[in-house]
Amino acid sequence: MKVVKTSKELDLILSPLRSSAKKIGFVPTMGALHEGHISLLKKAILENDVVICSVFVNPTQFNDPKDLEKYPRPIEKDIELLESAGCHYLFLPDVNDIYADGETWEHSFGKLEQIWEGAMRPGHFKGVGQVVYKLFNIVKPTNAYFGQKDFQQTLIIKKLIADFKLAINLHICPIIREESGLAMSSRNGRLNAIERQSAGNIYKALENTRLSISKGSKDLSELKNQALTILNTISDIKIEYVDIVNPDKLEIIENIDENSPLLMIIAVRLGNTRLIDNMYIRA
Ligand code: PAF
Repeated sequence: MKVVKTSKELDLILSPLRSSAKKIGFVPTMGALHEGHISLLKKAILENDVVICSVFVNPTQFNDPKDLEKYPRPIEKDIELLESAGCHYLFLPDVNDIYADGETWEHSFGKLEQIWEGAMRPGHFKGVGQVVYKLFNIVKPTNAYFGQKDFQQTLIIKKLIADFKLAINLHICPIIREESGLAMSSRNGRLNAIERQSAGNIYKALENTRLSISKGSKDLSELKNQALTILNTISDIKIEYVDIVNPDKLEIIENIDENSPLLMIIAVRLGNTRLIDNMYIRA
């Protein structure tokens, strides 16, 4: 795997591939890679001629400077993981390669950027939109791969691609879970062993709701209460939201009708660690 540190160098490598119509797969990340990222990468390798993974801890998507500072940056380990997964290029730019001095533009994602994660982390999705637009513009991938775990982010990227009419195929890949059921995340390393094990109850709450719906339950408040009961077995948990929404706009469902897909979304804090998860409780 070749490590490329500037967008100029990456362009020199990718231009001839673009001219010969090679399929370019792109997996953008902020590093601290885990099996979730590697699953995106493996899919990208299967579906493209060449695969680029970027590792860039994007400052504009952190609304809390302490969170940015604390964000894990195990780059040597990331390089090993990418190499053994068969990645072709690692794009590892620094901030000045991505952002110009005093840059202020932003794209509006409307209501989607203000609800759920947007409400908990003001400005977060503007930052995601900025960096993903820039990375897309540098890499110009044929296919881009994102994880379902950051469900709201996938809708933001979908809108970014639609609003700017980008010729990029978006692939949303399934959540990869630890043995306890906890969704893999770069933040899981901040949990202690007990928190990490008990966080598996987030998955149990989702799975319980999915099963209840499959057995015909339609009582939204009962479904939500059951999920809350399971979550509250986790000691020191602070629940930020647990809701059942429609997967295209993330609006709260008022009635469960027969056919529409349903998504359950959860955000909690365990000690100092914020965890989010989601599941199609009816596909
Ligand atoms: O999901 C992430 O890791 C980040 O939000 C992304 C998409 C790489 C943008 O910085």
